[in-house]
Amino acid sequence: DSFKDALHSLSAGLPPNEEYIVALLSAGTEQMPELLSAADRMRRREVGEAVHLRAIIEFSNFCRKNCLYCGLRRDNRSLPRYRLTEQQILDAAGEAAVLGFRTVVLQSGEDPYYRPADIARVVEKIKSSCDLAVTLSLGEHSRQTYKIWREAGADRYLLKQETADERLFKYLKPDTSLSKRVQCLCWLKELGYQTGSGNMVGLPGQSLHTLAQDIMLMQELDVDMAGIGPFLPHPATPLKDAAPGGLELTLKTLALTRICLPQAHLPATTALCTLTTDGRRMALSGGANVIMPNLTPPAVRSKYLIYPQKADISEKPAVALAEITALLAEMGRPLASGPGHATKTNRKS
Ligand code: 5AD
Ligand code: SF4
Repeated sequence: DSFKDALHSLSAGLPPNEEYIVALLSAGTEQMPELLSAADRMRRREVGEAVHLRAIIEFSNFCRKNCLYCGLRRDNRSLPRYRLTEQQILDAAGEAAVLGFRTVVLQSGEDPYYRPADIARVVEKIKSSCDLAVTLSLGEHSRQTYKIWREAGADRYLLKQETADERLFKYLKPDTSLSKRVQCLCWLKELGYQTGSGNMVGLPGQSLHTLAQDIMLMQELDVDMAGIGPFLPHPATPLKDAAPGGLELTLKTLALTRICLPQAHLPATTALCTLTTDGRRMALSGGANVIMPNLTPPAVRSKYLIYPQKADISEKPAVALAEITALLAEMGRPLASGPGHATKTNRKS
């Protein structure tokens, strides 16, 4: 049947084909176990059993953009804004290192308050004082700015495509365009960053065809990482009345991303964990191999509210780590010991 044909063809490494991806995204509940276990086998074979931890530090919730879905959008006057000082960012990174993390992700809205040189200094200080890989997730900037940060020692950059549908992209992100986004991703790759993209599942106006395009774009860009999570409507945004993305469709998209990008690092996203309490386990058994605990200082953490009920708002790092350790032990999955760089064999650094 068409489900089995599509699954075999994609699992065999044939070039992703939109028709096959759509066939698998439309799989019924009864076919979910087969799809998820195919992704799980691919994950085991290609990137192994180890789960990588990335400590995320959300250092500013100011944003110059006005994305329709996001609680940090500039028109959201009801959100109390905060910025961490350089020292607070360094302290949070130091705490991550002490707790045994090997990667920190510095994330913020697009906040022009921090000049490129400010960020570069933070990266340099982290790289010289801790044995940490540094991932930046700071949105769209010039090639020159990305170059400065790369030269300061940043290893990786996350910039999600959000949706590969050009028109939907323009509607959701009126300050930019899909082509500009893709241009940024290409610069990041040229500059030698390990590069991550990702998308939201269940956006209003999105079809299975769009999701297939998402997976194919990530394939084409040959990204090292991809964050896949459900869209969650935020009450202080224009999309407040839209329906949230579904759990099954999110898990199917994640599984297919594993099958089409066998060596990518795929996190169990916080958005997926927000949708369901067992999200982390489901993601880890359906293609994911990364967890990103939140190390933002507790005093400001609840203000980084990109969507409501964000799962990691009150978790203390040590408690979160204990929970993760217990879950992984139960699943028979070891914690990775190394920095968890991109797994692609052709990588230079
Ligand atoms: N629902 C789900 N994910 C969201 N993001 C932003 N707003 C939402 C939302 N309403 C995700 C996007 C973005 C990151 C900051 O958070 O994928 O890249
Ligand atoms: Fe800003 Fe990113 Fe939110 Fe858009 S998605 S408003 S760029 S933080």
